[in-house]
Amino acid sequence: MKLLEDRIVRDGVVKTEYVIKVGSFLNHQIDTALVDELGAEWARRFAGKPVDKIVTIESSGIALAAIAARHFGNCPVIVAKKSRSMNLDGDLYATQVESFTRGGVFDIVMERRLLKPGDHILIIDDFLATGSALTGLLDIAEQAGATVEGIGIAVEKGFQPGGESIRAHGYQLESLAIIEKMDPDTGAIEFR
Ligand code: G4P
Ligand code: NA
Ligand code: NA
Repeated sequence: MKLLEDRIVRDGVVKTEYVIKVGSFLNHQIDTALVDELGAEWARRFAGKPVDKIVTIESSGIALAAIAARHFGNCPVIVAKKSRSMNLDGDLYATQVESFTRGGVFDIVMERRLLKPGDHILIIDDFLATGSALTGLLDIAEQAGATVEGIGIAVEKGFQPGGESIRAHGYQLESLAIIEKMDPDTGAIEFR
């Protein structure tokens, strides 16, 4: 999506070969007009899919999911929660996720009453890197018996393995910008 690519080039800050900061428009400070355009684009790409709930994970997926929901019939947005240590009770779906950027393993949880068989969900998140968070959300969807209609990502880092793995599993993955290469010295960014 050219609008997002142009914004990444203009306002993104390449920190390393692997990490780009988009905090001035996508997560720390949020340009809601831009995010609204992302929502409209996902709605075009998933047109015809019977999405009735959007699922995301805290924290930086929430704003994108909530604004995107306006383009999917104002459907409910479910936020999976991260938790380091918790007495997991029977009312929760839970799965373990490995964090590569922060290290260690954490649980993600969701109240069972929020997601049921017969639900048709769209998963939304800001970044796709290793795909560990996404794999956790897919596991919860499977536990719930919900149908995953698709996955919408703002920024995929195409040189990390998450996207390839998700596509290989047959999911419709719509990443609105896919970064192939970044150079922290020049700031140059190549898109797929
Ligand atoms: P994954 O999300 O694909 O599993 O990969 P990874 O474990 O590497 O990502 C961990 C966190 O870092 C995620 O946020 C993800 O959105 C974010 N992230 C990954 N790559 C980049 C990057 O290049 N730039 C920025 N700014 N963030 C990146 P999180 O831990 O879920 O935390 P939150 O920020 O959503 O609360
Ligand atoms: Na995120
Ligand atoms: Na993040």
